[in-house]
Amino acid sequence: MEYVAKYLDMPYIRALEVSTFYTMFNQAPVGRYHVQVCGTTPCMLRGSEDLFDACYAKGLKKGGTSPDGLFTLAEVECLGACANAPMVQINDDNYEDLTSETMTSVLEALQRGQTPKPGPQIERQTSAPESGPTTLVEMVSENYDYREQWK
Ligand code: FES
Repeated sequence: MEYVAKYLDMPYIRALEVSTFYTMFNQAPVGRYHVQVCGTTPCMLRGSEDLFDACYAKGLKKGGTSPDGLFTLAEVECLGACANAPMVQINDDNYEDLTSETMTSVLEALQRGQTPKPGPQIERQTSAPESGPTTLVEMVSENYDYREQWK
């Protein structure tokens, strides 16, 4: 940060302000898995506290790195996957539609050196409704031409 501030010819505090505002800048090295739990309102209403509890049960501490260097836990603001709340980003992958149990499963798989399947942790395609598509349903099985209906 000091180098960047000097390079940009600005006071050190300006670089520090930016780096502490955005959660993608880390103030210290993070563990092998950077566990970023979204705590913003949609995720909070859908159970992000349960995800934190699952992390705490595994010994993770918010803002800290586990003694084995495997996990760093952080609370972050909306990660843009609200339709699949609650969710967590771990390194480059999102794990969505989580519960305490599935969060625990993801962490345990990572501990075993496995890569859990990213995306929704329930049966649904990306952010489609759990019961299946409710609009453009003719498009589910084949390409459907809606243009006649738009005239
Ligand atoms: S509020 Fe959690 S992803 Fe948007």
